[in-house]
Amino acid sequence: MPNPIMEEIITHSAEETTAWGREFAKRLTAPMLVLLSGDLGSGKTTLTKGIVSGLGAAQEDEVTSPTFTLVHVYSAKSAVASVNDTAASAAQPAPPKVYHADLYRIESFHDFETLGLEEMFDTPSIAIFEWSERFPLKSPWPQIRLHLEHAGADSRRITIS
Ligand SMILES: Nc1ncnc2c1ncn2[C@@H]1O[C@H](COP(=O)(O)OP(=O)(O)OP(=O)(O)O)[C@@H](O)[C@H]1O
Ligand SMILES: [Mg+2]
Repeated sequence: MPNPIMEEIITHSAEETTAWGREFAKRLTAPMLVLLSGDLGSGKTTLTKGIVSGLGAAQEDEVTSPTFTLVHVYSAKSAVASVNDTAASAAQPAPPKVYHADLYRIESFHDFETLGLEEMFDTPSIAIFEWSERFPLKSPWPQIRLHLEHAGADSRRITIS
């Protein structure tokens, strides 16, 4: 089996990370799991702001950490995007729902099961998980993993696999 394709980038500010997230969102088609891992403060929520806004599901500042609420759902409005896109967007299916969950405070598999994720799997969505390594997600959806690391001061390394 060939090695999975690995890609790595370094960002130098939170703004650069969200901007990268907006670009990265263009690669995502529902259904898909986006599994984020990385230490506290490595930028998972910051990156998610970019991904969710890139998907057109919410504005960056509407995306907050689901640390205590555990799961947020953003329902994409129909593309506000660009006037030049009218023909293209008319031909596109409705934008996907975006789930953003944080498993950091989930202590047991029972807690994990109370998140209501089964319902999520009923509709092809984009599901972004922080601390995804804490629980194995059983899903037939394709997965993309992003690992974030501190790389000094305001720099972060993002590895995609
Ligand atoms: N290059 C960068 N990319 C992302 N965030 C950065 C960067 N440089 C500095 N920061 C700052 O680091 C912090 C990252 O916080 P964020 O909440 O996104 O991390 P997190 O990985 O979600 O943490 P947690 O595990 O607590 O959920 C923010 O305060 C952000 O402004
Ligand atoms: Mg976070």
